[in-house]
Amino acid sequence: MQATPYDDIADWYDEIAPAISNDATLSPFLVIVGDVAGQRLCDLACGQGILARALARRGASVVGIDLSRRMLEIARRYERDEPLGVGYLYGDAQTLDAVRDESFDGVACHLALMDIPDLDAVVQTVHRILRTGGWFAFSIVHPCFQTPGSEWLVHSDGKACRGVSGYFVERFWRSENLAGVRGKVGAHHRMLSTYLNALVAAGLQIERTIEPPETGERGRLHPGNREVPWLFFGRCRKGD
Ligand SMILES: C[S@@+](CC[C@H](N)C(=O)[O-])C[C@H]1O[C@@H](n2cnc3c(N)ncnc32)[C@H](O)[C@@H]1O
Repeated sequence: MQATPYDDIADWYDEIAPAISNDATLSPFLVIVGDVAGQRLCDLACGQGILARALARRGASVVGIDLSRRMLEIARRYERDEPLGVGYLYGDAQTLDAVRDESFDGVACHLALMDIPDLDAVVQTVHRILRTGGWFAFSIVHPCFQTPGSEWLVHSDGKACRGVSGYFVERFWRSENLAGVRGKVGAHHRMLSTYLNALVAAGLQIERTIEPPETGERGRLHPGNREVPWLFFGRCRKGD
């Protein structure tokens, strides 16, 4: 069994999850995914299952998969409290040995690709478990504005702006904000082109992307995120 830092922070993550996976981040995800009623879906790196439950409420048949056993315990507790028919499996997104080829109509991965060291292995696995014509939707912390060297600055007009450096150096890093997820578990920084090229190389055709401005609570707390996006969303399709 692999160790994952999320086992140590799972209870804390569950408490703060509504501040991260809330309307502001789930809504663009659900927009990019579209109508899922009747589809067989995988919520990859599902955590405590917030997206899996949202997809199940929209009529999909959902399996959540995660590497953290503690996260999965919490997800199963939500399922017991409000049965939506979501099943949960322990698994590594880089291999998913227990999942058969072409099992799903769609695979969703919300805010987790930055956590996983081997991006090529994940997207190749996603391609393998999707049926032909199936979709892959993902969200990531925007790699152009959240880099190891990025910080909030004040522009000469008084507006918050983002200072970015270190973009071209792909590496694991840890935010200085120890109160946040990326301060606690770190992240793999990659260029946006690395993400997009990995998808294309795996045979996943990019169909749509969204970079939403933050209008809600996060926009109030971080006015700079009304100027530059915090998150990047994409949807791809497995071709013939
Ligand atoms: C930031 S959390 C996001 C959880 C959930 N998708 C959400 O939006 O709340 C990242 C998740 O990725 C999971 N994870 C990290 N590496 C993984 C891997 N190799 N395979 C499967 N899950 C992984 C962690 O255990 C954690 O639950």
